[in-house]
Amino acid sequence: MKKILFVCLGNICRSPLAEALFRKHVEANGLQDQFMCDSCGTADYHIGSAPDQRSVANARENGLDYSHRGRQLSEHDFKEFDYIVAMDESNLANIQRRNEIGHANIFKMRDFDSDAKGADVPDPYFGGISGFQDVFDILDRSTLNLLEELTESSGIKIS
Ligand code: 4NP
Repeated sequence: MKKILFVCLGNICRSPLAEALFRKHVEANGLQDQFMCDSCGTADYHIGSAPDQRSVANARENGLDYSHRGRQLSEHDFKEFDYIVAMDESNLANIQRRNEIGHANIFKMRDFDSDAKGADVPDPYFGGISGFQDVFDILDRSTLNLLEELTESSGIKIS
């Protein structure tokens, strides 16, 4: 069982959607026994909050229903998760600052996006509604590519 944690700032826009999309790809490939995932934020602004309604509505238009409650990154997460995936450079810096145990598998989400390798997932929180579709598309392909890399490295074939 591989455990993957998706991390953004508030844990209401980007990372809960990344979690939901990664899980969608896992389930579509029948790999529920091999992977578990969760998400959290580096900040404490939205602990206990549901995902942003704009993000939920946009995902529903794309055929995806999901729910989550906001939580903040903890020391325990570094021990619990095999892979930690940051949405942007600022999240990555915040995670590394707290990486006391020297966790070696911390990535950026778009390290797995062949369209713009290593770029930030833009934060849609303060922007217009079209930002949510952009983020959905970026996360849909990046989480699938992540799953493909993880399965290839474990010798599992996916469709
Ligand atoms: P997220 O977006 O990091 O993708 O969840 C944000 C949500 C809330 C805030 C900033 C970004 N905020 O400042 O409250």
